[in-house]
Amino acid sequence: MSKAEGKLPVAILVPGDFNDHALGRIDEAFNCVRIERADPSLVTDEMRATVRGIASYAGIDAAMIDALPNLEIIASFGVGYDSVDANHAAKRGVMVTNTPDVLTEEVADTAIGLLINTVRELYAAEKWLRDGDWATKGNCRLSRLTLRGRRVGIFGMGRIGRAVARRLEAFGLPIAYHNRRKVEGLAYEYHATLKGLAEAVDTLICIAPGGTSTEKAVNAEVLSALGSNGVFVNIGRGSTVDEAALAAALKSGTIAAVGLDVFADEPNVPQALLDAPNASLLPHVGSASVHTRRAMADLCVDNLVSWFTDRRPLTPVPETLNVKARA
Ligand code: NAP
Ligand code: 8YV
Repeated sequence: MSKAEGKLPVAILVPGDFNDHALGRIDEAFNCVRIERADPSLVTDEMRATVRGIASYAGIDAAMIDALPNLEIIASFGVGYDSVDANHAAKRGVMVTNTPDVLTEEVADTAIGLLINTVRELYAAEKWLRDGDWATKGNCRLSRLTLRGRRVGIFGMGRIGRAVARRLEAFGLPIAYHNRRKVEGLAYEYHATLKGLAEAVDTLICIAPGGTSTEKAVNAEVLSALGSNGVFVNIGRGSTVDEAALAAALKSGTIAAVGLDVFADEPNVPQALLDAPNASLLPHVGSASVHTRRAMADLCVDNLVSWFTDRRPLTPVPETLNVKARA
């Protein structure tokens, strides 16, 4: 059988930049249709008539969903799907899938790396060596902060939060957390409010999802509660933080240091954060290894294949759990 014969007669729309491995698999299994970005004004009559699935890194809003009357499924690449209007998709009977679990351990590894880099200022130590200062000026200065004696709070004790907590247990650090609901059977100290958690710890790690319920949750009040020895690490979503309040808190010494993998308006990083000497900044690389991105790509495409062959998703998001495949 030729490759063309093995294809399902289904058009999958891929807006903008996408993972190469996922693109290769979509091209093999479906009719892959590319578009510059997820913009309804770029949808042609042919796309309107034929597109039944979307595979995307990009946000898919209500207008884009409405522009495709035959759309059945949006396979979002990544576990966080705050940029997809999943509630509108559910109303329109469109399935949304994401890529949980396959990235959990990788993102937890990155969170720990970012935490240590922030606290021990390893970015400054490496610069000292590369700039030749070790040979010309002597030993690098001592880090102001240490992990020793810290109490860690996790904002978002889900799959990744628990993987971060497991690693921190091995470091001998006490752990507390805040979620909307206490996790049954989890021994870590629970705080019903984020401010309460920040008051109880000096190291706050955010791995909560983006979206309206967490919008700017890490604000001036929470940072002040964390205190002057405080370290804040964000590997969840940039929208969860009031970045202006964060930059001000770093400058005034309200908190001691920050480590950020995510920003509110990626890839744009506020100048005040770039200028802060007590900030370790990464370009959203939590899951960014070849190994893990390949596993995410496979799960993203496997959801499409399962939907169009067995008429069921593998990893539906909660909002679209009740969406049924059309006859
Ligand atoms: P998850 O298992 O769904 O965990 C999310 C946790 O956040 C849950 O425990 C949830 O508990 C809590 N939560 C949700 N909304 C909340 C709110 N308004 N207030 C307080 N707690 C809230 O998800 P996951 O797999 O761990 O992934 C978490 C997030 O990490 C993703 O959504 C994504 O944004 C981010 N992420 C980032 C990267 C990166 O590269 N930087 C990579 C992967 C994931 P309750 O429902 O009880 O509140
Ligand atoms: C990816 C992520 O960088 O899974 C997530 O929620 O933030 C990351 O793993 C992103 O989804 C790629 O688009």
